[in-house]
Amino acid sequence: MDTHLLIKIVHMTGASLACLAVFVRAFTLFKGVQGNMPNPAMRTLFVALQHGAMTLIALTGIVLLWMKNFDAEPWFYAKVILFLVLLSSLGKAYRKDDSMLLVQRRAGLFIAAGSLAAIIVLIMLKPNFG
Ligand code: HEM
Repeated sequence: MDTHLLIKIVHMTGASLACLAVFVRAFTLFKGVQGNMPNPAMRTLFVALQHGAMTLIALTGIVLLWMKNFDAEPWFYAKVILFLVLLSSLGKAYRKDDSMLLVQRRAGLFIAAGSLAAIIVLIMLKPNFG
């Protein structure tokens, strides 16, 4: 199997794990919440899954980009921006201190889910902005 395909498979595995992490962890903002804080059950596992998946996506994404000699289509930049929005909104949704209201956390989750959905639509449609 060639290296490009292998890295692409690892990248897509990371993406699948990220979708799983966002979906499963979302329940901690609805069931067993403690005041404004998410349900603490399995927090470490969720943090590890989410961080691992995002790191894998970013690292393999950069390698893939390098292998393509940074020759990216315009929609790719939208994907990277949406990825940054995803990271930032997840950071807000699950911030460790209780300065965030539950409703703000859920709004963060909503934005994260929207960004992830938009990334998937972009990948499927590969729109031509040019
Ligand atoms: C949650 C975020 C992401 C998801 C779900 C995702 C998913 C995918 C999928 C499914 C493909 C294969 C598409 C195809 O070949 O038709 C792909 C390709 C690619 N991704 Fe991502 N990706 C994400 C984030 C990123 C980031 C942050 C980067 C860059 C740092 C990146 C760089 C790339 C590159 C360069 C390719 C093209 C590989 C090629 O065609 O040679 N991705 N991504």
